[in-house]
Amino acid sequence: MGIAGVILARIGRMILKGNTLYWTAVYSLVFEHMGRQVAMLGKIYLQGPENISIGNHTTINQGCTFCGKGGIKIGADVLIGQNVNIMTSNYKYSSSIVPIRAQGQIYKKVIIDDGAWICAAAIILPGVKIGKRAIVGAGAVVTKDVAPFTIVAGNPAKVVKSMSK
Ligand SMILES: CC(C)(COP(=O)(O)OP(=O)(O)OC[C@H]1O[C@@H](n2cnc3c(N)ncnc32)[C@H](O)[C@@H]1OP(=O)(O)O)[C@@H](O)C(=O)NCCC(=O)NCCS
Repeated sequence: MGIAGVILARIGRMILKGNTLYWTAVYSLVFEHMGRQVAMLGKIYLQGPENISIGNHTTINQGCTFCGKGGIKIGADVLIGQNVNIMTSNYKYSSSIVPIRAQGQIYKKVIIDDGAWICAAAIILPGVKIGKRAIVGAGAVVTKDVAPFTIVAGNPAKVVKSMSK
């Protein structure tokens, strides 16, 4: 790579770093809590950001959707990949007469413990707890709690591996 290439690469890295600093500053204004050295790598989509708390050294990639109305607690050192969806409400549907949209919602908090890695495009459903250092595979639909130090994948997500503690 010539000198021009080196300069261009440096400028590119500065823009990326500036972008991360920008989005981290923006989201720190709206979340309930944002810890130290959190990295927001791009734009994400939010509902109820005042109920979302994020621990120290956590990284959140671009394109995620966090519906925080029921509360989302993300621990420290967590990695959230691109386009991850976290849901915290279900519509009630018990009446066959009233439209579902008018039956109200049930809210359930999602908790992601320290050190977990949620891979790209996973969907976490209301009330789920992801245990410490667990891994959720790309594209998984997580309907139940995930034990610490386990790897789940698929739809519905099932354990595919366990790690030694
Ligand atoms: C979850 C993951 C980390 C596991 O990787 P790994 O430890 O190398 O796992 P393996 O490839 O050995 O897979 C173990 C089993 O789980 C299955 N599996 C792994 N990931 C899967 C996924 N995302 N969806 C469905 N099944 C999956 C494999 O097919 C394999 O099944 P088998 O035992 O029947 O053959 C990886 O598969 C993954 O999803 N990576 C996502 C990468 C990503 O999102 N990066 C973004 C960075 S920000």
